[in-house]
Amino acid sequence: MTEIKGTTSVCGLIGNPVAHSISPLIHNSLAAFCDVDLAYVTFQVQQEAVADAIQGAYALDIKGLNVTVPHKQAVLGKLSDIDPLAKAIGAVNTLVRTGNGYKGYNTDITGLARQLEEAGIALAGQEVIILGAGGAARAIAFLCASEGAKSVYLLNRTVEKAQQIAQDVNQNLQTDTVGAMPVSDYVNLPGRDYIVLQTTSVGLAPNQDAAVIENADFYRRAAVGVDIIYNPAETRFMKLMKAQGKPAYNGLKMLLYQGVAAFELWNQLKVPQEAVNEVYKRMKKELGIVE
Ligand code: ATR
Repeated sequence: MTEIKGTTSVCGLIGNPVAHSISPLIHNSLAAFCDVDLAYVTFQVQQEAVADAIQGAYALDIKGLNVTVPHKQAVLGKLSDIDPLAKAIGAVNTLVRTGNGYKGYNTDITGLARQLEEAGIALAGQEVIILGAGGAARAIAFLCASEGAKSVYLLNRTVEKAQQIAQDVNQNLQTDTVGAMPVSDYVNLPGRDYIVLQTTSVGLAPNQDAAVIENADFYRRAAVGVDIIYNPAETRFMKLMKAQGKPAYNGLKMLLYQGVAAFELWNQLKVPQEAVNEVYKRMKKELGIVE
């Protein structure tokens, strides 16, 4: 932990609730490992106070903020600038101080991109299946289409939500890459060797024994799976994937890299891999995850 001095700059998290966030551990560890004079704290902010919080943070010379549920959309109107991918997604989780206000980014999605890259999973030219059609699926659909995936199928229990995302992404990126279908139609999917990205809340503790699709054939036809859930560390989706001999990853690296990406934006540096590895170890210890 950095020794707090007169020179220490502050970054923090706004959201509600924030008490159980792992972000203070990520950023204070990064600050210590990278020898950056920065302290990171959480701020519980009510919905109606988001504008005041951002204005106040700017007045207090706060260097950067992370934004979590439920404010990721509410902050959009309070920024001086926004990264194009974050704008297209319509959600921001990182604010970076500039000369005339905060610029918004979405490091949740750049974090996932970095996790995929590290795992050797290239989206370009590939067929991707996204399970779910919530906020995370929306961001991931934008990422897949903008990285040049050959096709993206959004499968959701409520097909209308998947259709809306498909329409938004296709329109925004001037493509017809993204399609939507009810989960139950997975048997009709053409092709094989899909990258499957699991974004639903199904399988999250305490409902660990559930997966959106149980059928072994679906997993046999897949190439690799990534679940954005990290608790449990091995979800039922991952178990089903591995049962067919396919690699499967949880969401802990995505969480790690969204933090690393924010830290890099705030401090204009590249976090060395040893620091990344150390923070990952600390996160696993804190969350009680044994891999
Ligand atoms: P996030 O913003 O984290 O993506 P969300 O917006 O709450 O979370 O989305 C949750 C996703 O999990 C949705 O795709 C939801 O499906 P619906 O749109 O049909 O609600 C999916 N989900 C949650 N519980 C589910 C269940 N029991 N079976 C199938 N899908 C489920």
